[in-house]
Amino acid sequence: MELFPKWRLPAKVAVALTLFFFIYTFLREVLHPFVVQKKNEFYRIPILVVNKVLPDVAITLLTLAYLPGVLASIVQLHRGTKYRRFPEWLNTWMLRRKQFGLLGFFMGAMHAIYSLSYPMRRSYRYKLLNWAYEQVQQQKENSWIEHDVWRMEIYVSLGILALAILAILAVASIPAVGNSLSWREFIFIQSKLGHVALFLSTAHALVFAWNKWVDVKQFIWYLPPTFMLVVLLPSVVLLCKVILMLPCFSKKIQKIRCGWESGKGMANRCVLTDL
Ligand code: HEM
Repeated sequence: MELFPKWRLPAKVAVALTLFFFIYTFLREVLHPFVVQKKNEFYRIPILVVNKVLPDVAITLLTLAYLPGVLASIVQLHRGTKYRRFPEWLNTWMLRRKQFGLLGFFMGAMHAIYSLSYPMRRSYRYKLLNWAYEQVQQQKENSWIEHDVWRMEIYVSLGILALAILAILAVASIPAVGNSLSWREFIFIQSKLGHVALFLSTAHALVFAWNKWVDVKQFIWYLPPTFMLVVLLPSVVLLCKVILMLPCFSKKIQKIRCGWESGKGMANRCVLTDL
């Protein structure tokens, strides 16, 4: 009996991504201040560094759950038939989408718990006291920054919405629940709602970044911040999805999935499928 055979590839990818983002964030947020400013920021590792790694891995895994569907559509459009097998690597990847999605959800849920724990930390309380002291010294009565308030309200709200939709997807992926749904309901949840969750997660990261995109101070040791790295792939996947939804492509994909073949016409009665 093999142990979790379907989880091997997604788990390996998750471990590799975790290591990559941990080392990357450690270099930027702990080692850089230590080497350059002689500042001890090692206290950041257990929560702040981990809470960069978790969302970065989560959004990448979610993207990896939706990328093969887009690739499969492009392959079918290019070939003009659904009767030729996908390449073996794409086939294996397609069969692991559920595991990629569930691992992404798990990391996203952990990220939410870590994020909500921020104000409980002692380091946060000391920082808050120090900021208040500095504010008094500068004789500043009000430290309210309107655009920063809006940024946080919006990105936290988007994160909560994304997580709520991901929870629905996770519940619907339980076989007993999935079997109680019709094919159309299952596809609606896993494909339509799934893309909405990916969109909300990407929007959450983009609003979190706000105007930091044009801030050169964000580049530490010439390394771009993680939020810049992680939104690229989901943005490309979402853009491809929108392009594939244009009538010129979606109609052809529907026809192909109904059995239409370029040069041969319709072979069978129409059976709707969605990738
Ligand atoms: C209750 C739900 C959520 C809350 C409260 C939340 C909160 C936060 C907070 C506070 C940050 C800033 C972290 C920091 O700089 O220390 C953040 C960043 C981020 N979050 Fe969320 N989040 C939630 C859900 C999600 C979900 C579901 C995803 C994606 C799967 C996600 C992806 C991200 C990403 C990619 C970043 C940017 C991390 C970086 O700087 O590299 N979040 N979120």
